[in-house]
Amino acid sequence: MEELLREELLGRFGMRTPPVPASGGKPDRFIPGEVRWYGPILYCPAFRNPERVEALPYWAQTAFRAPMLLTIESAGDAAKAMMALQRNWASCQYQLWRRAELIERKLPFIPTKPRTFPFDFPTTPMGIFTLVNDRQILASAETSSDLALGALPLVEDHTNPPSRAYLKLQESLAYLHHDFGVPYPAPGERCFDAGACPGGWTWVMRQCGAEVYAVDRTELHPLLMRDPKVTFRVHDAFTLTPEELGAFDWVVSDVICYPDRLLPWVRRWIASGRVKHMVCTIKLQGEVDWQTIEPFTQIPNSRVRHLTHNKHELTFLYAGEEWGTGMGNGRED
Ligand SMILES: C[S@@+](CC[C@H](N)C(=O)[O-])C[C@H]1O[C@@H](n2cnc3c(N)ncnc32)[C@H](O)[C@@H]1O
Repeated sequence: MEELLREELLGRFGMRTPPVPASGGKPDRFIPGEVRWYGPILYCPAFRNPERVEALPYWAQTAFRAPMLLTIESAGDAAKAMMALQRNWASCQYQLWRRAELIERKLPFIPTKPRTFPFDFPTTPMGIFTLVNDRQILASAETSSDLALGALPLVEDHTNPPSRAYLKLQESLAYLHHDFGVPYPAPGERCFDAGACPGGWTWVMRQCGAEVYAVDRTELHPLLMRDPKVTFRVHDAFTLTPEELGAFDWVVSDVICYPDRLLPWVRRWIASGRVKHMVCTIKLQGEVDWQTIEPFTQIPNSRVRHLTHNKHELTFLYAGEEWGTGMGNGRED
């Protein structure tokens, strides 16, 4: 992920950053003003205290909004200094693990275990800290995520879903809920699942109680094919029009297609007024052309995210007009 962040900073922001250090690279001195890796943390003064989400790279799991260097005498001293700033601190270490553990024990417990879907995010601010040496902590009381280290691991169901892709949709729904207040899908709602096979996303929607109109070239898992609330159709999902299919509460797509193909389809659905919310995977290939992603971020009431469960892809989340007052790429956080 660090390498992808580096590529994005260069390709999207024109910023050169130092190579990602080999696993042995453990700086023991903080150099103010210098762009530098501290373990997995890229200290990049140009991104200090960003005010808008759009100013952050997608590949930054979380960002220090108010970076500072704390000088400490002891673990107790460190915890006291951090608690004076705020309550919740996630630990991100690349060295001095025992000392960090002593500090962690003196701070309130922060859950980092996988969450069970669906759930409500914590709403209290989340800080982050790393020990650069035994006397200095690089920290930020304010970060761009309410989650520890900006990660959202989810409890996996190894038995029921027909593919692991279901995790992406669960995480997307959690973010739509958190960022915009969009309620989770519910019984009585309708979903169009484009590129649905083998059915992980359809399975999530059915678990939430929504009915699904699933389109792919290949059939879904037999259990979903037998589900009376799943309608399956063999077709090219991109040539089915909103006018033909009618209105949906949810239109979702996990089709492996590149931004240029996805964008007109997304725009058409939104312009038709026949969709309330959308979740679409934006596949990336090789060297990313960031210009092709920008138009997604300009769509009102939406946000582009790199999810914990995304690989070399991004996710477009459209909250819809009714829920558009949350944290999109183009508005104040
Ligand atoms: C990554 S898989 C989807 C996985 C699925 N979301 C799940 O959770 O199991 C992508 C699917 O898109 C389908 N696909 C690709 N192009 C398509 C198109 N134009 N119309 C419909 N389906 C398409 C493929 O057949 C493939 O099954």
